[in-house]
Amino acid sequence: GGVTTIDAGFKNTSSCESAITFLDGEKGILRYRGYSIEELAKKSNFVEVSYLLIFGALPTCDELAKFKADIRKQSLVDEDIKKILDGFPKSAHPMGVLSALTSALTAFSPKSVDVDSPEEMYDAIVKIYAKLPVLASWAYRKEEGLPLEYGDNSLGYVENFLKMMFDLPNEVYKPNPVIIKALDKLLILHADHEQNCSTSTVRIAGSSHAGLFASISAGISALWGRLHGGANQAVIEMLEEIKEDGGGYEKYIAKAKDKNDPFRLMGFGHRVYKNFDPRANIIKVAAEEVLADLGIDDPVLDIARGLSTVALEDEYFKSRNLYPNVDFYSGIIYRALGIPIPMFTVMFALGRLPGWIAQWREMRLRKEPIGRPRQLYIGATGRPFIEKEER
Ligand code: CMC
Repeated sequence: GGVTTIDAGFKNTSSCESAITFLDGEKGILRYRGYSIEELAKKSNFVEVSYLLIFGALPTCDELAKFKADIRKQSLVDEDIKKILDGFPKSAHPMGVLSALTSALTAFSPKSVDVDSPEEMYDAIVKIYAKLPVLASWAYRKEEGLPLEYGDNSLGYVENFLKMMFDLPNEVYKPNPVIIKALDKLLILHADHEQNCSTSTVRIAGSSHAGLFASISAGISALWGRLHGGANQAVIEMLEEIKEDGGGYEKYIAKAKDKNDPFRLMGFGHRVYKNFDPRANIIKVAAEEVLADLGIDDPVLDIARGLSTVALEDEYFKSRNLYPNVDFYSGIIYRALGIPIPMFTVMFALGRLPGWIAQWREMRLRKEPIGRPRQLYIGATGRPFIEKEER
């Protein structure tokens, strides 16, 4: 039948029922499986939150120990993946590399998962969860010309990841506990956000019964863009540019307000949060703490503070309910923690992975239909073919 409604960007369309993440954009509430993000960020850790999101309940001690042990068993990737990585130029952006390598994993686990088998589902989930940090660290090491290595399975998730990234051939990297704690918190804050662009991409790709790894690879590509996960890199580049330009941010605020200028304030605004982004509030405090703990005086943080204070008082931003979002401060912390700028969005991908997995799993277990939006056709009406000579 004919379609009469259109909802560009799905601003008012629910694509599914979901029991994973609750988000109230007016009140600034975010909960994973009923637990507030504030409480999880304070009391839990990323692996536990991942389990909660994916399987629906906080793990018991035994369940958590088993999950961790199973992850450890899957933390190697096929050696041939290194050959694929070798084919990329050093200048390749790690998000492109990560998406490609994740897709390449399908070649080494070609059997399609029987979603009615809890064992097969669990196996696929643990595989991708264990291997993505390895691929992410390799994407970075390739760019740096460092040898590719595996981590140390006796370490926790974040510490192990940092070691995989930063160990040098003759020097073992010893991360500061402040850095580990801050990164763990950031991963928790990014772990799910209901039907955002990349998660919807994972669900739509998976709804055709494409496999988990292929669907996650599609999600990584969607996350890369500047309006979504790529905003964290874009924010720090914007703040750096303002610094180079003498620190005057008023000009940039004016540019963002100018409707003839495509420039937007990166890290401002959100599709759903219209009051504040609860994640941004937690991250802002964490950024201040981390910089103080590490004794870093970052002029970029002063610019961020000043810019957000002025923008929040400005009628343009006020009337449109534009507030700093999660990405406004995350880049400042990542930089203070020594994460290289092109890896910022990769950190987001690692954080979002459990959310993607949980949403894919829920979609498949609920036997959702294939995602296939309709359209309103606005092209030419039927016309006769014109021969080349007569065009
Ligand atoms: N700077 C200046 N104006 C803006 C901005 C901004 N950052 N964001 C929105 N606006 C204006 C927009 O021009 C529009 O104005 P008008 O009504 O006069 O046409 C109004 O605010 C509503 O914006 P919209 O584009 O209709 O809102 P949206 O829900 O489609 O877009 C957004 C949401 C996040 C893509 C957008 O706010 C944006 O581009 N922000 C900058 C990029 C960014 O920080 N992204 C990270 C989002 S949070 C984490 C994540 O999802 O990855």
